[in-house]
Amino acid sequence: NRHLISAADLSKDDALLILDTAEELAAVSERSVKKLPTLRGRTVVNLFFEDSTRTRISFEAAAKRLSADVINFSAKGSSVSKGESLKDTALTLEAMGADAVVIRHRASGAPHRLAHWVHGSVLNAGDGTHEHPTQALLDAFTMRRRLGGIEGRRVTIVGDVLHSRVARSNVLLLNTLGAEVTLVAPPTLLPVSVHTWPCQVSYDLDAVLPKSDVVMMLRVQRERMNAAYFPSTREYSRRYGLDADRLARLPEDALVMHPGPMNRGVEIAAEVADSPRSTVVEQVTNGVTIRMAVLYLLLGGAV
Ligand code: CP
Repeated sequence: NRHLISAADLSKDDALLILDTAEELAAVSERSVKKLPTLRGRTVVNLFFEDSTRTRISFEAAAKRLSADVINFSAKGSSVSKGESLKDTALTLEAMGADAVVIRHRASGAPHRLAHWVHGSVLNAGDGTHEHPTQALLDAFTMRRRLGGIEGRRVTIVGDVLHSRVARSNVLLLNTLGAEVTLVAPPTLLPVSVHTWPCQVSYDLDAVLPKSDVVMMLRVQRERMNAAYFPSTREYSRRYGLDADRLARLPEDALVMHPGPMNRGVEIAAEVADSPRSTVVEQVTNGVTIRMAVLYLLLGGAV
């Protein structure tokens, strides 16, 4: 496959190949080899129409560690403000020699459209409420490194599933890798299609926590929300927030994950985010490694 648009497109073998490649690249980094010559002469374009800290910077770091040239494009300050379309923007960047385009866009399906217009590889860095496949891969990589394996592990994903591309990609990938996923959310923050997803649904966080190997907290995405269907912050935190009391109900070696950015004090208490059980910072480090693996495999870099 030339593109990475959806976690649904990854077979178990594909996903394991990416995770194993990332493991090898992590071993190289741990031997303090900072830069590999693998993608010398290749150009990666970061095409960001929506804000990002982790994904944009880690794709840039990943491409640079593989010696690729990187062009960073952000819609703010570009000719998009003059009405230039996604297609014309993409063709302009391709004319400058892009071998891969990493795209984040507020519209679900934008990376899929883009893949019809450009010759290079398209990597989905988050499209609307649809998917964020490299986030799911870095989360799976983090779980595998910490827990030793994913098969049969019980992963609970909590919060604003309705607006979460991270939740959808994680449910799909974790199911492919043999984990048992449970979503916990207020009914108003679940998509109507959730019954077709390969996972369980619960409304009772306290009942699910003691049976979880991993609890993944989702950001409440107020910017995508109509205030009318969101409970008060205090009510949300009381029912669905992960605080110190709830942390104590998790099995001793269970992990606490969050893709970031976090709303401290809303879906996750500050002391939980900063606790030794939290993998939040490790997830960011693993994000660079996973994105190196994906770029390496898609651009077919020869060592
Ligand atoms: N997790 C994640 O996608 O973060 P950014 O929005 O900062 O890229």
